[in-house]
Amino acid sequence: MVFIDACFRKETPYTPIWMMRQAGRYLPEYMEVRNKAGDFLTLCKNPQWASEVTIQPIDILNVDAAILFSDILVIPLEMGMDLKFEKGEGPVFSDPIRTKEDIDRLYDYPEERLTYVYETIKLTRERLPKEKALIGFSGAPWTLATYMVEGSGSKTYAQIKKLIYTDPEFMHALMIKITEAVKAYLLKQIESGVNAVMVFDSWASALEKDMFFEFSWEYMKDIAEFIKLKHPDIPVILFPKGIPGYLDKIDGNFDVFGVDWGTPMELAKKHLGDRYVLQGNMEPCRLYNKEATKEGVEKIVETMGAKPGHIFNLGHGMLPDLPVENAKYLVDLVHTLTKR
Ligand code: CP3
Repeated sequence: MVFIDACFRKETPYTPIWMMRQAGRYLPEYMEVRNKAGDFLTLCKNPQWASEVTIQPIDILNVDAAILFSDILVIPLEMGMDLKFEKGEGPVFSDPIRTKEDIDRLYDYPEERLTYVYETIKLTRERLPKEKALIGFSGAPWTLATYMVEGSGSKTYAQIKKLIYTDPEFMHALMIKITEAVKAYLLKQIESGVNAVMVFDSWASALEKDMFFEFSWEYMKDIAEFIKLKHPDIPVILFPKGIPGYLDKIDGNFDVFGVDWGTPMELAKKHLGDRYVLQGNMEPCRLYNKEATKEGVEKIVETMGAKPGHIFNLGHGMLPDLPVENAKYLVDLVHTLTKR
């Protein structure tokens, strides 16, 4: 698989590309299945439908990897929390975690309840062409904790940060509980057939440097180490979003570092390019315009070269109103420009 070889810095015929949120509302084919399902969580819990939308971007865009269709929030959901996706508001938990009793009521083994995810993986791996990789994923403990404590997306993260500065022991107890669940969950995804795993720390940038390393990165490293010891042949991709100023301290046993669009590729290359394969990082909004897309691709390929050490991706997820045609153009352009 070109994508897996690239994760291990092996020679490949071209630089592989996939896109975060490549399965989603910008695809009419996705909307069709989504409407059949009725709502997003029902879609996630139905292996037939989830598998169908996982494969859509492979068929439509010719990307090199599919990413499991699910959501990072199925872990807190299966820990027993009450999750709803409100229209226009995003995810909401009606029962946020604020006290030790709240932590104790969280179920310890959510991975045992996530059987619909493993079914989706098995079905998808059976249906995918052999040369296309399937990526499994989880939210990072810190990002999951922000939703679990705040109860929804947040601008200030004041609730969870209040806990960090007033009751760090409480926060570590929560982080440990989530981390153990993530490890077991990713292991089950691998046993079900995914070829790589990625950990999304979308809200890494909410923390100042020391606190990021104490409350987020240590736990991400622990997860990566756990997976690499058990499955050295499975690439581990870590994506802490929005921390360009913290790159000098990044270390750990993993394979690929996900670079967001706010972190200049040259900077990521300088700090991490020798030790990790870099994945990223075109600003998704460039896809509104073909010329802007071309310019974005050329700049990144110029920086990373048409050689091992780079996987092309967006610097964050696809947006619901981006033109499919431009996404196809992007995939073709990366394949052509990086042909060896
Ligand atoms: O194609 C893929 O990338 C695979 C599927 C995937 C989804 N969410 C589907 C989804 C993945 C990998 C995620 C990860 C995810 N979910 C993250 C981390 C990545 C990132 O974007 O930073 C986060 C923070 C979430 C939490 C989440 N899920 C939010 C905030 C929202 C609402 C925002 C929105 O776009 O509406 C979701 C819903 C969600 N997850 C959708 C999809 C396709 C939209 C649901 C719909 O069809 O209405």
